[in-house]
Amino acid sequence: MSYETIVTEPRSKVGLIRLNRPQALNALNMQVLADLLAAARAFDRDDGIGAMVITGSEKAFAAGADIKEMQAKTYIDAYMQDFFSGWEDFARIRKPIIAAVAGYALGGGCELAMMCDFIIAADNAKFGQPEITLGVMPGMGGSQRLTRFIGKSKAMDLVLTGRMMDATEAERCGLVSRIVPVADLMEESMKAATKIADFSLPAVVMAKEAVNRSYETTLSEGLRFERRVFHSMFALDDQKEGMAAFTEKRKPHFSNR
Ligand code: CAA
Repeated sequence: MSYETIVTEPRSKVGLIRLNRPQALNALNMQVLADLLAAARAFDRDDGIGAMVITGSEKAFAAGADIKEMQAKTYIDAYMQDFFSGWEDFARIRKPIIAAVAGYALGGGCELAMMCDFIIAADNAKFGQPEITLGVMPGMGGSQRLTRFIGKSKAMDLVLTGRMMDATEAERCGLVSRIVPVADLMEESMKAATKIADFSLPAVVMAKEAVNRSYETTLSEGLRFERRVFHSMFALDDQKEGMAAFTEKRKPHFSNR
């Protein structure tokens, strides 16, 4: 399948998606959203794929929503189109998605990275929510997700000053799970995704759902949800296989059932 603004490639069990608008530093316009959603949904449906990696270029993961596309919008356009709401569909993809971020991840770029399940950053990565410098504020989840991920003080700092933070600061405050040299970004990200894809797919998808649940519910409800999902895993062939392999001191062969 070929797309206008992204390039996709299934590599073994990993679906790789590369944003490809170099002339605009991968700014996220409506076509990017349509392409990304179609590609991620196709990988989500593909039984041969266990995880995805989304990346950009060495210079930019994505420099934000496309300012030129939204510049002339009126309030009624934005409201009636429910502008940006389509990105919530992306956040509902069920298989794990790693954001492999090099260069700028600004505005919508930072917000897209946060919709993924974790972020591996190159040492040249720069994160920020600079919308305030354009006379607006984050609109793809930044005010909510960033605050939950890094806390109020630092989120306010970024959202209100529009400053960028480097990879080291992003890792220190918990936005990023690891930093790697920019030359190793794809190898490390593909390695992590392959590792995930080799586990039991139902177990992985259930684990992702449970961790995400923690953002949307109380601790006691979240713990109850976790236990119910955990109990249900004893119906999986993969639970029998994983535990048998451990006791028999061999590698498990998961069947995704
Ligand atoms: N939208 C549209 N075009 C963009 C863009 C964006 N977000 N970011 C960069 N571009 C375009 C530039 O206009 C330029 O195009 P032209 O050559 O046609 O002029 C091209 O990409 C290269 O950009 P620069 O020449 O600016 O590159 P640079 O290396 O000098 O600067 C940068 C890089 C600091 C990232 C700078 O491009 C920049 O500040 N970009 C905008 C960042 C931003 O404000 N993002 C937030 C957008 S709003 C948003 O995302 C809302 C939301 O919550 C979803």
